[in-house]
Amino acid sequence: YMVDKGNHRHFMEKEIYEQPEVISHALAHYVDLGAHTVRTAVSDAIDFASLRGLTISACGTAYLAGLIGKYWFERYARLPVEIDVASEFRYREIPLSTDQAALFISQSGETADTLASLRYCHDAGLKTGAVVNVRESTIARESDAVFPILAGPEIGVASTKAFTCQLTVLASLAIAAGKARGLIHADEERQLVRQLTEMPRLMSGVLNSIEPQIEALSRELSKYKDVLYLGRGTSYPLALEGALKLKEISYIHAEGYAAGELKHGPIALIDENMPVIVIAPHDRFFEKTVSNMQEVAARGGKIIFITDERGAAASKLPTMATITLPNVAEIIAPMVFSLPIQLLAYHTAVFMGTDVDQPRNLAKSVTVE
Ligand code: G6P
Repeated sequence: YMVDKGNHRHFMEKEIYEQPEVISHALAHYVDLGAHTVRTAVSDAIDFASLRGLTISACGTAYLAGLIGKYWFERYARLPVEIDVASEFRYREIPLSTDQAALFISQSGETADTLASLRYCHDAGLKTGAVVNVRESTIARESDAVFPILAGPEIGVASTKAFTCQLTVLASLAIAAGKARGLIHADEERQLVRQLTEMPRLMSGVLNSIEPQIEALSRELSKYKDVLYLGRGTSYPLALEGALKLKEISYIHAEGYAAGELKHGPIALIDENMPVIVIAPHDRFFEKTVSNMQEVAARGGKIIFITDERGAAASKLPTMATITLPNVAEIIAPMVFSLPIQLLAYHTAVFMGTDVDQPRNLAKSVTVE
């Protein structure tokens, strides 16, 4: 498979810009684009109706995709989700039962700890499903059901398009699960699927408009030693992913926190030397997150506010920068909001002069424990 950078400086940049296209491919596989339904071949692969729970295990960025998936499976399908990083999952001696199914998320399909978790669940008699990019991988071969993410080869060590394709697949599965469990009716299914299908166009629009602002902001960000990311709901795992992406490729120390945990620790660190990146679409948590932002502002913290048009209009707090995305449906917000987060990490790393595609000490696929 020949892969080149095209007109991009790095694979990471190319892969960020590929997202609208690869998400279209993933969507075509999982949903019927005419009828706006989830394909039955997909929803039938796991008998969601009979399940009492779901367990998810993964590493790194794939784990954070799973964490967002947890919110969706619980909200749309009332399916309790147990999720952990694979290196803990495999040794925790979790009580498992065969009325749970187990999902494993892995770009490469070869991560040693994730594979060990899969074998553990398989031995416990659970039905297993693999959300993978590499369909010929060990994790795909050893799973009962395979859910390809169809992102195409991902070369940059820091995962970008695989993350948003993993999310697209998990969202489709959560809708399928909600339908199978009688919680999502035909109208709602059509509405949710239609919202998913709007993603590629919305993401292209964002990619075509925010880069100049993000580049200027990244130049500023590259001067700091520590950065804090905050979010609530599905924006919380996104805050973790933002921090992970930044530290992986720019080597700036970054931490992600649930916005509500601010007062339980990280608030002690707030001063003008640690920018706080707040991820807050105008969703049902918005007001709560704004009150956390107020706590940051009151202590002289510098805020980078990543929000949507409604959110930007609703908050009057002074910020170091406000990145305004279009208003989007709640189910696609994590994918759309991934874009500024990825670009911010990317451009900051470019300013720092690091090896963006091959950051020090990191490997694309970790096949040893
Ligand atoms: C490595 C990569 C990450 C990736 C993680 C899990 O740490 O650098 O980008 O998220 O492994 O890899 P997987 O192939 O299982 O998704």
